[in-house]
Amino acid sequence: MLKPVNIGICGLGTVGGGTFNVLARNHAQIAARTGCDIRVSHVAIRQAKPEFDLSNVTVESDVLAVARAPEVDIVVETIGGYDAAKRLVLTAIEHGKHVVTANKALIAEHGNEIFSKAAEHGVSVYFEAAVAGGIPVIKALREGLAGNQIDWLAGIINGTGNFILTEMKDKGRDFADVLAEAQALGYAEADPTFDVEGIDACHKLAILASLAFGVELSFDRAYTEGISQVAPLDVVLAEELGFNIKHLGIARQLEQGIELRVHPTLIPKTQLLANVHGVMNAVMIHADAVGSTMYYGAGAGAEPTASSIVADICDIARLLDASQAQSVPPLSFAQASIQPATILPIEQVRSEFYLRFSAHDEPGVMMHVTEALSAQGISIETMIQKAPDAAEHSLVALVTDHVEEQRLRTAVAQIETLPTIQGSVHVIRVESLA
Ligand code: HSE
Repeated sequence: MLKPVNIGICGLGTVGGGTFNVLARNHAQIAARTGCDIRVSHVAIRQAKPEFDLSNVTVESDVLAVARAPEVDIVVETIGGYDAAKRLVLTAIEHGKHVVTANKALIAEHGNEIFSKAAEHGVSVYFEAAVAGGIPVIKALREGLAGNQIDWLAGIINGTGNFILTEMKDKGRDFADVLAEAQALGYAEADPTFDVEGIDACHKLAILASLAFGVELSFDRAYTEGISQVAPLDVVLAEELGFNIKHLGIARQLEQGIELRVHPTLIPKTQLLANVHGVMNAVMIHADAVGSTMYYGAGAGAEPTASSIVADICDIARLLDASQAQSVPPLSFAQASIQPATILPIEQVRSEFYLRFSAHDEPGVMMHVTEALSAQGISIETMIQKAPDAAEHSLVALVTDHVEEQRLRTAVAQIETLPTIQGSVHVIRVESLA
């Protein structure tokens, strides 16, 4: 006899609609795997959705009516945004409902409050879909890697950004044109600035770091840089130097604190992460016992995201009859053991750097550049210099060895004062991921 489990989906947009369809299409497989008859009993929608068969579903216009409905066991929050979503999630928790959400902004910025409220009411809040779309990376961190100390993780965790970088590199397409396509495909956020300026990736990175290192959510202290400043010229020069440019979220635990940063990054072309293209996401996790593992899959889109939401629903459904002692413990940042995080300022982070600048073609130019670098203890790993143009300006691209960012900035400021250097020096961080 299957146990009935009622789902209330709030919002039937891209992700909510995908969830509705996957639950309906795969009902038999899900029942076989969970022993539960998982059905959508309620939805909240603002306007008619003729594409969905809602004949056996209670349709509400107010999401809070779903959060309060006595028949609903699990509330799925797919309305997105902050205020209304937070009100919905807290109302559901107060009414004893378990919650599944894809809302990374909500978890990254209000997670601590939401989790402590959930613990108070003895319910679960699951959010696999909030990070890296369809990739079960939160499950990997919480369960598959539970026996490890996590050293670092690095991920391509925004599908829209990776789609734009890939199309720019492979097809020479225009940034705005590719972004419009990502929006049409349902990959981009309602406000696509979140994708292109790295805010969305930073939300996801804050969640991953919290789980990986058992520390509080620290979104507001992370360093965030988007892809809007990546020039097609850098994509070409990086390739010549043996790198692909990817937008990475990086979290690393060091004795002195945690690196938490999102920015465009040159990655050696031989690395798996450098070869993750289009809307695909991937997260590489380095841990003490297992070494490096990597998780790859679609990072956005209706059904990949629904796949993660439905997996969370299945996990909760399986636990509905189980005692707390039998269940996987609640999420780390809901625990009393949660630690405050020391986040390293970006100026103290060490990495390699790519520099690109234009120099007047005359003897001694590179000597002055190397003097400015070596004054800060920086040496050059590799360099290319293009033949001078009609104005006798040569394009130079180089990669440094590892150095603290503050030192690099001092050297760059010095280089920019040289009379033979035209304009500013373009800087992108480099990671070998070894
Ligand atoms: N806008 C997000 C992305 C959606 O492109 O990755 C998935 O979180």
